[in-house]
Amino acid sequence: MQRIYLDQASTSFPKAPGTAEAVFRYMTECGCNISRGGYKGAYAAEELVYDTRTLLCRLFGCRDDDPKKAVLTHNVTESLNILIKGMLKPGDHVLVSSMEHNAVMRPLGQCAKQGVRFTRVPCAEDGTMNPADLEARIEENTRAVVMLHASNVCGTILPAAEIGRICRRKGIRFILDTAQTAGIVPLDMAAMGVDALAFTGHKGLLGPQGTGGFLIREELAAEMEPLISGGTGSISHTEEVPDFLPDRFEAGTMNLPGIAGLHASLTWLTDRPEGSILQHELHLTEQFLRGMEALEEEGLIRVTGKHGTEGRTGVVSILPLHTDPAELAFRLDEQYGIATRVGLHCAPAAHQTLGTWPTGTVRFSFGIFNTEEETDEAVRAVSALCRKERRE
Ligand code: ALA
Repeated sequence: MQRIYLDQASTSFPKAPGTAEAVFRYMTECGCNISRGGYKGAYAAEELVYDTRTLLCRLFGCRDDDPKKAVLTHNVTESLNILIKGMLKPGDHVLVSSMEHNAVMRPLGQCAKQGVRFTRVPCAEDGTMNPADLEARIEENTRAVVMLHASNVCGTILPAAEIGRICRRKGIRFILDTAQTAGIVPLDMAAMGVDALAFTGHKGLLGPQGTGGFLIREELAAEMEPLISGGTGSISHTEEVPDFLPDRFEAGTMNLPGIAGLHASLTWLTDRPEGSILQHELHLTEQFLRGMEALEEEGLIRVTGKHGTEGRTGVVSILPLHTDPAELAFRLDEQYGIATRVGLHCAPAAHQTLGTWPTGTVRFSFGIFNTEEETDEAVRAVSALCRKERRE
């Protein structure tokens, strides 16, 4: 039985062509650290990291292509921790959506214990947000909006550009979590009014796990305290944390093999026509949704989130009505080799919004290398298993 991998929202597989080879090449042919050595291998590694930052700036619309604004971390969770904990002070108020993942909510929960307050802007049952509902909740002390760009549970895209405009008008910082959209949905940080864009390297960017980062406007960086400090290879005469980007937020040795892989995947990605990856993923999503909607009409499942392909990514969550979601996910894997993610997807608030708390859902997420045949097989499998469960 061939595996059908439909857990792309968790981590993409396979990775972009050339990614694994680049990791191997770095480890076998270079292997040097950056900012520390005065020899050719160290300079080559330095160049690789610099190029990676440049590719990120281009991909995310950091207009002046200034690579120092691309800070590299190990994942989007680390990026969000650095941004949230580095920016907020006791007394600050923050707005989030009711669809957030724990990568936002847990650091914010920690800040709340130190005197930061937050308000969840309620989203509709399909995960959409009305920007007016956010604007109405801005308070005198509101310092920032921290928000995901698309739900990891149901794929609904939130109105980031509109929120960015509101933030600009009100003088509020805007932190956007692009865990589910970077590399898939075209992103233009400047046009969207984003102050810091947090990303991960191993999902839509098709790079290795253990890579990620954030792009940040200098004005915001200047207001922040670094979460992690230590050696950077720069201004070694002082024990003070550097006050310049990216060193201010990049203490310690980086995941250089991972960055070599990310460099290769970004190079592959930036050669694709803009929007073509989203188009492919939505084509498969539409095919899958058609099948799921037929099952919904039969009373076998509930499809959560938006129906149709407008304003969404290729992530679809279903709630089986005659069996436990975990049972369905187990049988999909056991009998059909279909890999999905089941449960609450580290996003309890999103499930409360979607009306699928506390059971959770079975999530199917499509990627650039999934095919129509795999999608058909997934529809057939869900249909056969749900019908069987209803008979029993
Ligand atoms: N947040 C990731 C997911 O949704 C890990 O699966």
